Amino acid sequence: MPPIILGIETSCDETAAAVLEEGGRILSSLVASQLDTHGKYGGVVPELASREHLRAIVPVVREAMSRANLRWDQLSAIAVTEGPGLTGALLVGLTYAKALSLSTGLPLIAVNHLEGHIHAAVMESAPALPALALVVSGGHTHLFEVREGWQYRLLGRTRDDAAGEAFDKVAKLLGFGYPGGPLIDALAPHGHAKVFADQFTVPRIKGASQDYSFSGWKTAVLRWTEARDLTAEVAARKALFARRPRATIEEWRAATPQPTLDLLASFQHAVVTELLRRATRAAEQIDAQSMIVSGGVACNSELRRAAQQLRVGYPVYFPEAKLSTDNAVMIAAAAFPKLKRQHFADLTLRPQASLQLAQ
Ligand code: KG4
Ligand code: ZN
Repeated sequence: MPPIILGIETSCDETAAAVLEEGGRILSSLVASQLDTHGKYGGVVPELASREHLRAIVPVVREAMSRANLRWDQLSAIAVTEGPGLTGALLVGLTYAKALSLSTGLPLIAVNHLEGHIHAAVMESAPALPALALVVSGGHTHLFEVREGWQYRLLGRTRDDAAGEAFDKVAKLLGFGYPGGPLIDALAPHGHAKVFADQFTVPRIKGASQDYSFSGWKTAVLRWTEARDLTAEVAARKALFARRPRATIEEWRAATPQPTLDLLASFQHAVVTELLRRATRAAEQIDAQSMIVSGGVACNSELRRAAQQLRVGYPVYFPEAKLSTDNAVMIAAAAFPKLKRQHFADLTLRPQASLQLAQ
Protein backbone atom coordinates (compact mmCIF):
# COMPACT_ATOMS: atom_id res chain seq x y z
CA MET A 1 0.00 0.00 0.00
CA PRO A 2 1.32 3.50 -0.78
CA PRO A 3 1.82 5.76 2.25
CA ILE A 4 -1.16 7.86 3.36
CA ILE A 5 -0.94 11.15 5.26
CA LEU A 6 -3.51 13.16 7.21
CA GLY A 7 -2.89 16.89 6.62
CA ILE A 8 -4.11 19.67 8.91
CA GLU A 9 -4.09 23.39 8.00
CA THR A 10 -5.16 26.30 10.26
CA SER A 11 -2.75 29.11 9.38
CA CYS A 12 -5.33 31.76 8.49
CA ASP A 13 -9.11 31.64 8.14
CA GLU A 14 -9.81 28.11 6.90
CA THR A 15 -9.90 25.03 9.12
CA ALA A 16 -8.86 22.22 6.78
CA ALA A 17 -8.12 18.52 7.00
CA ALA A 18 -7.41 16.04 4.23
CA VAL A 19 -6.28 12.47 3.73
CA LEU A 20 -3.96 11.97 0.78
CA GLU A 21 -2.31 8.92 -0.73
CA GLU A 22 1.18 9.30 -2.18
CA GLY A 23 0.90 10.06 -5.89
CA GLY A 24 -1.98 12.50 -5.51
CA ARG A 25 -5.10 10.40 -4.81
CA ILE A 26 -7.30 12.49 -2.49
CA LEU A 27 -9.20 10.22 -0.09
CA SER A 28 -10.93 13.14 1.60
CA SER A 29 -10.60 16.92 1.82
CA LEU A 30 -12.55 19.31 4.02
CA VAL A 31 -12.28 23.08 4.26
CA ALA A 32 -14.40 24.93 6.82
CA SER A 33 -14.31 28.54 5.72
CA GLN A 34 -14.71 31.45 8.15
CA LEU A 35 -15.81 33.87 5.44
CA ASP A 36 -19.11 34.63 7.13
CA THR A 37 -17.29 35.53 10.34
CA HIS A 38 -14.66 37.86 8.83
CA GLY A 39 -16.55 39.18 5.79
CA LYS A 40 -18.33 41.94 7.65
CA TYR A 41 -15.00 43.28 8.98
CA GLY A 42 -13.46 43.36 5.48
CA GLY A 43 -10.51 41.21 6.54
CA VAL A 44 -9.40 38.43 8.87
CA VAL A 45 -9.73 39.22 12.61
CA PRO A 46 -7.06 37.07 14.33
CA GLU A 47 -8.91 36.51 17.64
CA LEU A 48 -12.06 35.43 15.83
CA ALA A 49 -10.02 33.13 13.58
CA SER A 50 -8.53 31.26 16.59
CA ARG A 51 -11.96 30.89 18.15
CA GLU A 52 -13.47 29.53 14.94
CA HIS A 53 -10.57 27.08 14.47
CA LEU A 54 -11.14 25.80 18.02
CA ARG A 55 -14.79 25.21 17.21
CA ALA A 56 -14.10 23.47 13.89
CA ILE A 57 -10.88 21.49 14.29
CA VAL A 58 -12.24 18.32 15.93
CA PRO A 59 -15.30 17.84 13.66
CA VAL A 60 -13.31 18.70 10.51
CA VAL A 61 -10.54 16.16 11.23
CA ARG A 62 -13.08 13.51 12.30
CA GLU A 63 -15.06 14.03 9.11
CA ALA A 64 -11.90 13.82 6.97
CA MET A 65 -11.02 10.49 8.59
CA SER A 66 -14.54 9.19 8.30
CA ARG A 67 -14.85 10.12 4.61
CA ALA A 68 -11.50 8.49 3.88
CA ASN A 69 -12.89 5.43 5.64
CA LEU A 70 -9.58 4.55 7.26
CA ARG A 71 -8.39 3.55 10.70
CA TRP A 72 -5.57 5.51 12.33
CA ASP A 73 -3.19 2.57 11.97
CA GLN A 74 -3.61 2.72 8.18
CA LEU A 75 -1.99 6.19 8.11
CA SER A 76 1.76 6.79 7.80
CA ALA A 77 1.95 10.23 9.41
CA ILE A 78 0.15 13.40 10.48
CA ALA A 79 1.27 16.61 8.75
CA VAL A 80 0.49 20.07 10.06
CA THR A 81 1.23 23.67 9.04
CA GLU A 82 3.81 25.19 11.40
CA GLY A 83 3.88 28.62 9.68
CA PRO A 84 3.85 31.25 8.36
CA GLY A 85 0.46 32.49 9.55
CA LEU A 86 -1.44 33.81 12.54
CA THR A 87 0.12 32.46 15.75
CA GLY A 88 -3.17 31.77 17.52
CA ALA A 89 -4.65 30.11 14.45
CA LEU A 90 -1.56 27.94 13.83
CA LEU A 91 -1.53 26.95 17.50
CA VAL A 92 -4.95 25.29 17.23
CA GLY A 93 -3.94 22.97 14.37
CA LEU A 94 -0.51 22.28 15.84
CA THR A 95 -1.78 21.42 19.29
CA TYR A 96 -4.42 19.09 17.92
CA ALA A 97 -1.93 17.43 15.55
CA LYS A 98 0.50 16.89 18.44
CA ALA A 99 -2.25 15.37 20.57
CA LEU A 100 -3.21 13.03 17.72
CA SER A 101 0.40 12.05 17.15
CA LEU A 102 0.85 11.31 20.83
CA SER A 103 -2.31 9.24 21.11
CA THR A 104 -1.94 7.29 17.84
CA GLY A 105 1.84 6.90 17.83
CA LEU A 106 1.96 8.29 14.26
CA PRO A 107 4.94 10.50 13.37
CA LEU A 108 4.34 14.24 13.15
CA ILE A 109 5.55 16.23 10.12
CA ALA A 110 5.83 20.05 10.18
CA VAL A 111 5.05 21.77 6.85
CA ASN A 112 5.70 25.31 5.68
CA HIS A 113 2.44 26.74 4.29
CA LEU A 114 4.20 28.12 1.19
CA GLU A 115 5.78 24.76 0.44
CA GLY A 116 2.25 23.37 0.67
CA HIS A 117 1.03 25.83 -1.97
CA ILE A 118 3.88 24.79 -4.29
CA HIS A 119 3.13 21.07 -3.88
CA ALA A 120 -0.57 21.59 -4.66
CA ALA A 121 0.39 22.29 -8.28
CA VAL A 122 2.52 19.20 -8.81
CA MET A 123 0.86 16.39 -6.89
CA GLU A 124 0.60 14.03 -9.80
CA SER A 125 3.68 14.78 -11.86
CA ALA A 126 7.08 15.88 -10.61
CA PRO A 127 8.06 19.20 -12.27
CA ALA A 128 11.17 19.38 -14.44
CA LEU A 129 13.89 21.10 -12.38
CA PRO A 130 14.99 23.70 -11.70
CA ALA A 131 11.49 25.15 -11.50
CA LEU A 132 10.38 28.70 -10.91
CA ALA A 133 7.58 28.89 -8.33
CA LEU A 134 5.35 31.96 -8.04
CA VAL A 135 3.38 31.75 -4.79
CA VAL A 136 0.76 34.43 -4.87
CA SER A 137 -1.91 34.71 -2.19
CA GLY A 138 -3.51 37.06 0.31
CA GLY A 139 -0.45 37.01 2.54
CA HIS A 140 2.39 36.22 0.14
CA THR A 141 3.88 37.05 -3.23
CA HIS A 142 7.14 35.17 -3.59
CA LEU A 143 9.33 33.87 -6.39
CA PHE A 144 11.35 30.77 -5.53
CA GLU A 145 13.79 28.61 -7.38
CA VAL A 146 12.93 24.95 -6.74
CA ARG A 147 15.87 22.52 -6.94
CA GLU A 148 16.38 18.78 -6.62
CA GLY A 149 15.31 17.44 -3.22
CA TRP A 150 12.77 20.26 -2.74
CA GLN A 151 15.41 22.85 -1.95
CA TYR A 152 14.34 26.46 -2.33
CA ARG A 153 16.02 29.80 -3.03
CA LEU A 154 14.21 33.12 -2.78
CA LEU A 155 14.46 35.14 -6.01
CA GLY A 156 11.95 37.89 -5.32
CA ARG A 157 9.11 38.95 -3.09
CA THR A 158 6.73 41.81 -2.59
CA ARG A 159 8.22 44.82 -0.85
CA ASP A 160 4.80 45.85 0.48
CA ASP A 161 1.33 44.36 -0.21
CA ALA A 162 0.82 40.80 -1.42
CA ALA A 163 -1.03 40.61 -4.75
CA GLY A 164 -4.13 39.08 -3.12
CA GLU A 165 -4.03 41.79 -0.48
CA ALA A 166 -3.96 44.40 -3.27
CA PHE A 167 -7.06 42.80 -4.84
CA ASP A 168 -8.79 42.78 -1.43
CA LYS A 169 -7.83 46.38 -0.58
CA VAL A 170 -8.88 47.76 -3.96
CA ALA A 171 -12.21 45.94 -3.63
CA LYS A 172 -12.70 47.34 -0.14
CA LEU A 173 -11.90 50.90 -1.26
CA LEU A 174 -14.56 50.62 -3.94
CA GLY A 175 -17.19 49.21 -1.56
CA PHE A 176 -17.12 45.60 -2.76
CA GLY A 177 -17.30 42.66 -0.37
CA TYR A 178 -14.48 40.55 1.04
CA PRO A 179 -12.45 38.80 -0.30
CA GLY A 180 -12.13 41.05 -3.31
CA GLY A 181 -10.10 38.79 -5.60
CA PRO A 182 -12.89 36.48 -6.82
CA LEU A 183 -15.27 39.45 -7.28
CA ILE A 184 -12.79 41.51 -9.30
CA ASP A 185 -12.02 38.40 -11.36
CA ALA A 186 -15.72 38.00 -12.18
CA LEU A 187 -16.37 41.71 -12.90
CA ALA A 188 -13.21 42.56 -14.85
CA PRO A 189 -14.36 40.89 -18.11
CA HIS A 190 -17.20 43.44 -18.20
CA GLY A 191 -14.68 46.31 -18.35
CA HIS A 192 -11.98 47.38 -20.78
CA ALA A 193 -8.43 47.08 -19.49
CA LYS A 194 -7.04 49.77 -21.80
CA VAL A 195 -9.25 52.59 -20.51
CA PHE A 196 -7.36 53.27 -17.28
CA ALA A 197 -4.10 51.46 -18.03
CA ASP A 198 -2.21 54.74 -17.47
CA GLN A 199 -3.21 54.70 -13.77
CA PHE A 200 -1.12 51.60 -13.18
CA THR A 201 2.43 52.38 -14.19
CA VAL A 202 4.99 49.79 -13.13
CA PRO A 203 6.96 50.91 -10.07
CA ARG A 204 10.72 51.12 -10.44
CA ILE A 205 12.49 48.92 -7.97
CA LYS A 206 16.20 49.33 -7.45
CA GLY A 207 18.53 46.35 -7.50
CA ALA A 208 18.77 43.15 -9.49
CA SER A 209 16.16 41.15 -7.57
CA GLN A 210 12.74 40.42 -9.03
CA ASP A 211 10.84 42.14 -6.22
CA TYR A 212 7.24 43.28 -6.55
CA SER A 213 5.46 46.34 -5.21
CA PHE A 214 1.67 46.63 -5.32
CA SER A 215 0.83 49.27 -2.72
CA GLY A 216 1.15 52.15 -5.20
CA TRP A 217 -1.73 50.78 -7.25
CA LYS A 218 -4.01 50.77 -4.23
CA THR A 219 -3.16 54.48 -3.79
CA ALA A 220 -3.81 55.02 -7.51
CA VAL A 221 -7.31 53.57 -7.06
CA LEU A 222 -7.89 55.79 -4.03
CA ARG A 223 -6.89 58.89 -6.03
CA TRP A 224 -9.10 57.81 -8.91
CA THR A 225 -12.12 57.52 -6.59
CA GLU A 226 -11.36 60.92 -5.00
CA ALA A 227 -11.02 62.64 -8.36
CA ARG A 228 -14.45 61.37 -9.42
CA ASP A 229 -16.38 61.67 -6.18
CA LEU A 230 -17.63 58.12 -6.04
CA THR A 231 -19.11 58.57 -2.56
CA ALA A 232 -22.68 57.69 -3.53
CA GLU A 233 -21.67 54.80 -5.79
CA VAL A 234 -19.41 53.26 -3.12
CA ALA A 235 -22.08 53.76 -0.42
CA ALA A 236 -24.63 51.96 -2.59
CA ARG A 237 -22.33 48.94 -2.95
CA LYS A 238 -21.57 48.91 0.78
CA ALA A 239 -25.31 48.89 1.42
CA LEU A 240 -25.71 45.99 -1.02
CA PHE A 241 -23.00 44.01 0.78
CA ALA A 242 -24.54 44.73 4.21
CA ARG A 243 -27.95 43.62 2.93
CA ARG A 244 -26.76 40.67 0.85
CA PRO A 245 -23.26 39.44 1.76
CA ARG A 246 -23.66 36.77 -0.89
CA ALA A 247 -24.89 39.04 -3.66
CA THR A 248 -24.61 37.56 -7.15
CA ILE A 249 -22.27 38.88 -9.83
CA GLU A 250 -25.30 40.28 -11.66
CA GLU A 251 -26.27 42.28 -8.55
CA TRP A 252 -22.71 43.60 -8.19
CA ARG A 253 -22.62 44.43 -11.85
CA ALA A 254 -25.89 46.35 -11.65
CA ALA A 255 -24.36 48.39 -8.81
CA THR A 256 -21.18 49.15 -10.79
CA PRO A 257 -21.12 51.81 -13.55
CA GLN A 258 -18.93 51.24 -16.62
CA PRO A 259 -15.96 53.45 -15.57
CA THR A 260 -15.53 51.41 -12.37
CA LEU A 261 -15.73 48.16 -14.36
CA ASP A 262 -13.04 49.58 -16.65
CA LEU A 263 -10.93 50.47 -13.62
CA LEU A 264 -11.21 46.91 -12.25
CA ALA A 265 -10.25 45.47 -15.63
CA SER A 266 -7.26 47.83 -15.88
CA PHE A 267 -6.12 47.03 -12.33
CA GLN A 268 -6.40 43.26 -12.78
CA HIS A 269 -4.61 43.39 -16.11
CA ALA A 270 -1.75 45.39 -14.57
CA VAL A 271 -1.36 42.95 -11.67
CA VAL A 272 -1.43 39.88 -13.92
CA THR A 273 1.05 41.40 -16.38
CA GLU A 274 3.44 42.41 -13.60
CA LEU A 275 3.23 39.02 -11.85
CA LEU A 276 4.13 37.19 -15.05
CA ARG A 277 6.71 39.72 -16.23
CA ARG A 278 8.89 39.24 -13.16
CA ALA A 279 8.19 35.51 -12.94
CA THR A 280 9.33 34.89 -16.52
CA ARG A 281 12.41 37.06 -15.96
CA ALA A 282 13.32 35.11 -12.85
CA ALA A 283 12.71 31.86 -14.75
CA GLU A 284 15.13 33.03 -17.43
CA GLN A 285 17.76 33.86 -14.80
CA ILE A 286 17.77 30.32 -13.44
CA ASP A 287 17.18 28.61 -16.78
CA ALA A 288 13.96 27.11 -15.43
CA GLN A 289 12.59 23.93 -16.96
CA SER A 290 9.08 24.53 -15.63
CA MET A 291 7.00 27.12 -13.81
CA ILE A 292 4.57 26.61 -10.91
CA VAL A 293 1.93 29.21 -10.07
CA SER A 294 0.03 28.67 -6.83
CA GLY A 295 -1.80 30.34 -3.93
CA GLY A 296 -5.26 31.95 -3.83
CA VAL A 297 -4.55 34.43 -6.65
CA ALA A 298 -3.68 31.46 -8.90
CA CYS A 299 -7.48 31.04 -9.16
CA ASN A 300 -7.59 34.25 -11.19
CA SER A 301 -8.87 33.45 -14.67
CA GLU A 302 -6.91 36.18 -16.45
CA LEU A 303 -3.68 35.03 -14.74
CA ARG A 304 -4.35 31.43 -15.80
CA ARG A 305 -5.13 32.44 -19.35
CA ALA A 306 -2.12 34.74 -19.67
CA ALA A 307 0.23 32.14 -18.15
CA GLN A 308 -0.96 29.45 -20.55
CA GLN A 309 -0.38 31.84 -23.44
CA LEU A 310 3.19 32.71 -22.47
CA ARG A 311 5.51 31.87 -25.30
CA VAL A 312 8.04 30.07 -23.15
CA GLY A 313 9.61 26.72 -23.85
CA TYR A 314 8.65 25.09 -20.54
CA PRO A 315 5.35 23.87 -19.00
CA VAL A 316 3.43 26.09 -16.55
CA TYR A 317 1.62 24.24 -13.75
CA PHE A 318 -1.38 25.52 -11.80
CA PRO A 319 -3.28 23.59 -9.12
CA GLU A 320 -6.96 23.07 -9.82
CA ALA A 321 -8.93 26.02 -8.37
CA LYS A 322 -9.99 24.38 -5.11
CA LEU A 323 -6.38 23.41 -4.36
CA SER A 324 -5.11 26.94 -5.11
CA THR A 325 -6.70 28.54 -2.06
CA ASP A 326 -5.87 27.29 1.43
CA ASN A 327 -6.54 23.59 1.95
CA ALA A 328 -5.01 20.61 3.73
CA VAL A 329 -4.36 18.40 0.69
CA MET A 330 -1.38 20.62 -0.10
CA ILE A 331 -0.01 20.21 3.44
CA ALA A 332 -0.19 16.42 3.17
CA ALA A 333 1.33 16.57 -0.35
CA ALA A 334 4.35 18.56 0.88
CA ALA A 335 4.87 16.04 3.69
CA PHE A 336 5.58 12.95 1.53
CA PRO A 337 9.22 13.86 0.71
CA LYS A 338 9.76 14.53 4.44
CA LEU A 339 8.23 11.15 5.31
CA LYS A 340 10.69 9.50 2.94
CA ARG A 341 13.61 11.29 4.66
CA GLN A 342 12.07 10.57 8.09
CA HIS A 343 12.15 14.29 8.73
CA PHE A 344 9.83 14.23 11.74
CA ALA A 345 8.91 16.92 14.25
CA ASP A 346 8.68 16.30 17.96
CA LEU A 347 6.28 17.57 20.57
CA THR A 348 8.30 20.74 21.12
CA LEU A 349 6.98 22.01 17.75
CA ARG A 350 5.73 25.63 18.05
CA PRO A 351 3.90 27.95 15.63
CA GLN A 352 6.26 30.11 13.53
CA ALA A 353 4.28 33.18 12.46
CA SER A 354 7.05 34.46 10.16
CA LEU A 355 8.54 31.16 9.04
CA GLN A 356 10.63 31.59 5.85
CA LEU A 357 10.83 28.95 3.15
CA ALA A 358 14.18 30.19 1.86
CA GLN A 359 16.56 33.13 2.06
O1 KG4 B 1 -4.03 31.18 -0.52
P1 KG4 B 1 -5.20 31.88 0.08
O2 KG4 B 1 -6.49 31.12 0.23
O3 KG4 B 1 -4.86 32.41 1.51
C1 KG4 B 1 -3.61 32.94 1.85
O4 KG4 B 1 -2.68 32.14 2.15
O5 KG4 B 1 -3.53 34.19 1.79
O6 KG4 B 1 -5.43 33.22 -0.79
C2 KG4 B 1 -6.48 34.12 -0.53
C3 KG4 B 1 -6.29 35.32 -1.44
C4 KG4 B 1 -7.25 36.48 -1.17
O7 KG4 B 1 -6.50 37.69 -1.14
C5 KG4 B 1 -8.20 36.45 -2.36
O8 KG4 B 1 -8.72 37.73 -2.71
C6 KG4 B 1 -7.29 35.92 -3.45
O9 KG4 B 1 -6.50 34.95 -2.81
N1 KG4 B 1 -8.06 35.31 -4.55
C7 KG4 B 1 -8.10 35.80 -5.81
C8 KG4 B 1 -8.99 34.96 -6.53
N2 KG4 B 1 -9.45 33.99 -5.70
C9 KG4 B 1 -8.87 34.21 -4.48
N3 KG4 B 1 -7.49 36.85 -6.36
C10 KG4 B 1 -7.72 37.10 -7.66
N4 KG4 B 1 -8.57 36.36 -8.42
C11 KG4 B 1 -9.22 35.29 -7.90
N5 KG4 B 1 -10.05 34.57 -8.65
ZN1 ZN C 1 -2.23 30.30 1.56
